[in-house]
Amino acid sequence: GYYIGFQEWNRIFPVIIASALSFIIGYKLIPVIKESTLAAGLGGRDLNKVSNKKIPESLGIVPATLYLVTMILAQVLFARDHDAQFQYNSATLSVCFMILLGFCDDVLNLRWRYKLLLPTIASLPLLVAYSGTTAIVVPRMLRDLLGYSIELGCLYSLYMILLAVFCTNAINIYAGINGLEAGQSLVIGCAALTHNFIEITLHINDQIYTQHLLSASLLIPFIFNTLALLKYNKYPSKVFVGDTFCYFAGMTLAMAGILGHYSKTLLLFFIPQILNFIFSIPQLIGIVPCPRHRLPKYDPRTDTLECVPTHFTLINFVLWVTGPQHEKNLSTALICFQIMCCALGFYIRYEISQIFYY
Ligand code: UD1
Ligand code: MG
Repeated sequence: GYYIGFQEWNRIFPVIIASALSFIIGYKLIPVIKESTLAAGLGGRDLNKVSNKKIPESLGIVPATLYLVTMILAQVLFARDHDAQFQYNSATLSVCFMILLGFCDDVLNLRWRYKLLLPTIASLPLLVAYSGTTAIVVPRMLRDLLGYSIELGCLYSLYMILLAVFCTNAINIYAGINGLEAGQSLVIGCAALTHNFIEITLHINDQIYTQHLLSASLLIPFIFNTLALLKYNKYPSKVFVGDTFCYFAGMTLAMAGILGHYSKTLLLFFIPQILNFIFSIPQLIGIVPCPRHRLPKYDPRTDTLECVPTHFTLINFVLWVTGPQHEKNLSTALICFQIMCCALGFYIRYEISQIFYY
């Protein structure tokens, strides 16, 4: 049928209940743990404020841990489908590995080249377990030349690694104003879950149906736990999320895209991150010097942020276009932009892509 029926709710509903519980626990736990991370030296100054007070950092460790607990408990839902359960557990393991390495990064402040290596290592559990297709479908106009699909073989593993490296780092470098890291991740997660629900409802075939059910069960606990974090990370930030969260978020979304087999659609939801990445390339590859922070300039007299034209980021580009903005307005505007880009992504996926794939 063209609606989510009893059978789906049987699986999705327990995940929603468990995730809602983990939201409540996270909501209560973050204010407690933030005292401990601060005492352990994990804190940072809010660079866009007057105060010199340190804000607790790396609070992503709370939702990330609760996410893992929820995922481990919810695997029983796939117990009758061993292949699905195996893939689900491999994805959980990759996310777990990524959280560990993200927390290491927060504690050890790793250099740039290592940041690219971390998601590569963390995607290993999924790469080894991956049993899905390694072929990609060719766009219509090239099919006379290349055939319907191309078998990528080992190159497909490389594609999965690149996706994980991109998703994690792209979220991490689109950051620096309150609420942006958690906010963007929440919006992308919701867009991906909406896509899953559409495909579950359409039920084109059993395979696609199972893939999207699998992806949905990765995303529902992610969305609830991110929501708890956003509550404290939104302007004015009571906690910072840390690289722990950025890597956790990127890896979870990448895993959902890979196991759900909609990585191209997922990248459509990453349009702001792709733009920010393209802007950043000169600084990332070292043509232009890249300082530790590439934040806008805070003006304490007007309490606004100003564009710093030598920092090539999307945040600075927006400020360059609009002129100085209050941090709260800027953060809200960038989240709205994220929502608009996801809407555009849906339009491209369900309308325009018909021209290329049918
Ligand atoms: C990435 C960016 C860096 C940006 C930083 C901000 C690149 C290559 N790196 O580095 O330019 O400055 O994220 O997160 O683009 N902070 C705030 N307000 C916020 C969020 C963070 O002031 O809303 C500051 C705090 O001092 C916090 C620190 O940024 O302690 C966290 O930075 P971190 O996540 O360690 O930086 P990177 O991810 O390495
Ligand atoms: Mg960071």
